[in-house]
Amino acid sequence: MSSTPSSYPLPDYRDQSPAVAARFARIKERPVVLEVDKLGRQFAGEHGPVTALRDISFQVRRREFVCVIGPSGCGKSTLIRILAGLDEPTSGRMLVDGRESHGPSPERGMVFQGYTLFPWLTVKRNVMFGLEMAGKAANEAGPEAHQWIDLVGLGKFADSYPHQLSGGMKQRVAIARALAPNPRVLLMDEPFGALDAQTRAQMQSHLLEIWRNVDVTILFITHDLDEAILLADRILVLKANPGEVQEIIEVPVPRPRSLDQLQSPEFQATRRRLDELIHPKVHAPTERLPIVRLTQAGDDVE
Ligand SMILES: Nc1ncnc2c1ncn2[C@@H]1O[C@H](COP(=O)(O)OP(=O)(O)O)[C@@H](O)[C@H]1O
Ligand SMILES: [Mg+2]
Repeated sequence: MSSTPSSYPLPDYRDQSPAVAARFARIKERPVVLEVDKLGRQFAGEHGPVTALRDISFQVRRREFVCVIGPSGCGKSTLIRILAGLDEPTSGRMLVDGRESHGPSPERGMVFQGYTLFPWLTVKRNVMFGLEMAGKAANEAGPEAHQWIDLVGLGKFADSYPHQLSGGMKQRVAIARALAPNPRVLLMDEPFGALDAQTRAQMQSHLLEIWRNVDVTILFITHDLDEAILLADRILVLKANPGEVQEIIEVPVPRPRSLDQLQSPEFQATRRRLDELIHPKVHAPTERLPIVRLTQAGDDVE
């Protein structure tokens, strides 16, 4: 795929159209659902302590979609595992709706990259499982599970078993299972990372559609820059060693989003900024070089 021609200067990634600026103004009026406050996590490494996360602070507002990106090993999975209550921070805290939160809880649903459905349960039973864990009786959980399965477009597969489903379908069930107990926050750790490119693109638009219909706040980890721009209101960029917040970007691409926007100036400007942050050394010097040489070659010929 070709990139934007260099003769067209890209806008600044911080430039926002009036509609996009108005959307961010509306988001900022909403209550904070998830607050991460000076969070840190150290592990005992072979050669002394390893600081996986240091002083991570950010807030996510109701129904906001935030993506977290960063190079491998910068602490993305550590962060989301702490938020899911599967690990404890060594410093700092996490608050949901203003209350400090510890351990796993139905208020924080989680979707992993690997397929984590129970293979011995049908689609419906898998989704009911989350509801029953949250204290719902089976006679209520059944019909509710069905609603969620319909929402992710798998109504016909309620009685199928995971092995009868494609990878994309399994992840849809995982999303239904995580959403069924009505979590305040949906945590997703590279949920489409194992899918082929076409299925991945379908799942991205599918997730946006689900999110439009459900009152849920999403924190989504990816290392795919285009995926982050396509999905997010804001992108939290982490750096590695130690994992720290490098920048938080308000994505200037208008909604509703689609793959057609990949070549738009706003998309490309954001893409370039993320590239600068994530691959700083490779990008800056090589970018201008061929242009200068071509221009000079043209001057010589004439
Ligand atoms: N259980 C653990 N014990 C020791 N070190 C860990 C553990 N989990 C993660 N780490 C270290 O923490 C850092 C961040 O890891 P991780 O959160 O998996 O990064 P990412 O998901 O961004 O690739 C890495 O240096 C990793 O080796
Ligand atoms: Mg990871």
